[in-house]
Amino acid sequence: MKRRSGIVVAVILLLPLMLAAQIPGYGTDIEGKIDALLAQMTLAEKIGQLKHYTGGDSEEHRQMAADGTVGSFLNVTGAGKTNALQKLAVENSRLHIPIIFGQDVIHGYKTIFPIPLAEAASWNPELVERAAGVAAREARASGIHWTFAPMVDIARDPRWGRIAEGSGEDPHLGATLAAARVRGFQGMDLSAADRVAACVKHYVGYGAAEGGRDYNTTEISERTLRDIYLPPFAAAVNAGAATLMSAFNDLNGIPASANPFTLTEVLRNEWGFKGFVVSDWNSIGELLNHGIAADGAEAARLALYAGVEMDMEGRIYRNHLADLVDKGTVSTAAIDEAVRRILRIKLLLGLFDQPYTDPLLEKQVLLTPENLMIARQMARESIVLLKNDKNILPLSKSTKIALIGPLADSKQDMLGTWSCMGEAKDVITLLQGIQAAASKPGHVVAAKGCSVTGNDRSGFKAAMQAAKNSDVVVAVVGESADLSGEASSRADITLPGVQEALVKELAAVGKPLVVILLAGRPVAIPWIADHAAAILMGWHGGVQAGPAMADVLFGDYNPSGKLPVSWPRVVGQVPLYYNYKNTGRPTSEQKYTTRYLDWPVTPQYVFGFGKSYTQFAYSHLVVDKNEMGPQATLTCSAVVTNTGRVAGDEIVQLYIRDMAASVTRPVKELKGFKRVHLKPGESRKIEFTLGPAELGFHDADHRYVVEPGLFKVWVGPNSAEGIEGQFTIR
Ligand code: NOJ
Repeated sequence: MKRRSGIVVAVILLLPLMLAAQIPGYGTDIEGKIDALLAQMTLAEKIGQLKHYTGGDSEEHRQMAADGTVGSFLNVTGAGKTNALQKLAVENSRLHIPIIFGQDVIHGYKTIFPIPLAEAASWNPELVERAAGVAAREARASGIHWTFAPMVDIARDPRWGRIAEGSGEDPHLGATLAAARVRGFQGMDLSAADRVAACVKHYVGYGAAEGGRDYNTTEISERTLRDIYLPPFAAAVNAGAATLMSAFNDLNGIPASANPFTLTEVLRNEWGFKGFVVSDWNSIGELLNHGIAADGAEAARLALYAGVEMDMEGRIYRNHLADLVDKGTVSTAAIDEAVRRILRIKLLLGLFDQPYTDPLLEKQVLLTPENLMIARQMARESIVLLKNDKNILPLSKSTKIALIGPLADSKQDMLGTWSCMGEAKDVITLLQGIQAAASKPGHVVAAKGCSVTGNDRSGFKAAMQAAKNSDVVVAVVGESADLSGEASSRADITLPGVQEALVKELAAVGKPLVVILLAGRPVAIPWIADHAAAILMGWHGGVQAGPAMADVLFGDYNPSGKLPVSWPRVVGQVPLYYNYKNTGRPTSEQKYTTRYLDWPVTPQYVFGFGKSYTQFAYSHLVVDKNEMGPQATLTCSAVVTNTGRVAGDEIVQLYIRDMAASVTRPVKELKGFKRVHLKPGESRKIEFTLGPAELGFHDADHRYVVEPGLFKVWVGPNSAEGIEGQFTIR
């Protein structure tokens, strides 16, 4: 509640924003089919549906398929292998229930796109949706029905290796891209030959691991959970996501894979989710390590009753559920509900009608020119220009370039983390891409200099020689693919090995120095930020990493990416995020304010930051209402002008701040963004709508409210700049 002039002003309670969540094709008509099946199933067959194993190639697995006592496999791919197992289930088992095949298709199946964090830097939901569509088409043609994506964990700590797999730190950007990926994977019809069921993960809070250490404990208040961590999941469910994966982490003392609050109260009851939840790999078994279950039987009961329907590779449901039902500790109704949810998705996937995959499809859809074209566009839009002193970039194609560094010609590393079915042979490296685009390939001379990790400097000499013979030195440094992703947290997020030493020696040669960073996370590079003439963040760019970087380097594509994460100067600043709370002692030059003695509190590069080869000016901010009621909406517009000499895309961002509320609010919150293409001299009025969905938050009682009072609004190029306006909620 908020007091104004001594009068208590009622807060406005809104209906939950997302009641209409529906999985594509879902209608109550399929419940009858499920009832009919359930009526015939034995307990062993029912429990079988809740089991999910990796492999599928052992005799034991084949037998289970034939007996109808397994519901799902992961890591079985290819039409040949999946069809063979499916045949056992469909033709030999008593009730002919098909198997669902799952796989980690995280950023492409064969056509590997940039890592998801890079895709997020495009701020282009339409393109992200198309990329997911390509992944779905390739996967389904290879016998996969279900992808363990999108990963929508908010990550505020780049030490956490899995920051690479998600969309970064912001709930609005994260929610928008989560929904886009779900639409891309699933389309309007899960049974289509080019679509797969999505699995939104890791539910929930996994990205808040203490110390950025993977699998570590998380403590997240319910308000922060609802305002920051849940929105991407809510958006994905609202976009019709068929499944979710329960996370590994301990969440406020109740592990996420046994958490009735998140899995039942929020997911099923508040959001009306009709699909199923699969545990993460043995996360039910790990309830014993968490110390919340004394034995496997207790773990099985806790997870099932919390709302985890399928046990990934854990054998806990398999070993304990039948006994628990016999003893009456677990009800048949609870088992039936879990089976129902899994059968629902199998029916929606059309597996009962068409359990097999056409073996001819694979050849037709994998790595097609169209797929590669989308991968190249995705890769170019994900590149972020962090620095460009004296407009040293773009380079002329006749420049003599010394391309130095351990990542310049690495195929494997460009695939990034979780590129399961991706193959290094399909990658075009930076060296290959830049040589192909240069006017004379011989103008681009490469030298590795050193490896990504390790201390060997014996390659420095050749690198310096190449540098001396060049017009421009382009250093390609960063992290190998295995330095981010699962179980790949780093306590020190500077450049590994002797790469920084290499860059320092290259700088001393005296030629203009361009640094291309390739990594799965922001890397702390304070020296390079000060000394390089230009810096490009290229992440791990997928199979088209090389051509995309060449497009940007030579100006065939004007870089437009913006950071989806705040970029720390030094690891001691993390966790670091733009939507922080002001504190009672906001940062200033004065002592006794929130700051460090040794480093600034500001990031090296702010959230939303990214430069272009042209310039954009912002003017004419108009908020069309000075005042409005809490249920109303207003329009906020600004004019963006390309004041430079080349055409380019700008990602126009809108932020708000609720100046005083019943609970403290962040200093800025992203509430809208638009990508706009402008020719030199061209202006465009960009409009955003702000209403209850954007202006509310969860109050002290965790109710979603829009409260009266003053709001500030900014439209600008990133989270730190922009033109300012304001309005009041009555
Ligand atoms: C564990 C990971 O946490 C999860 O993201 C992945 O989908 C599963 N393994 C299956 O590979």
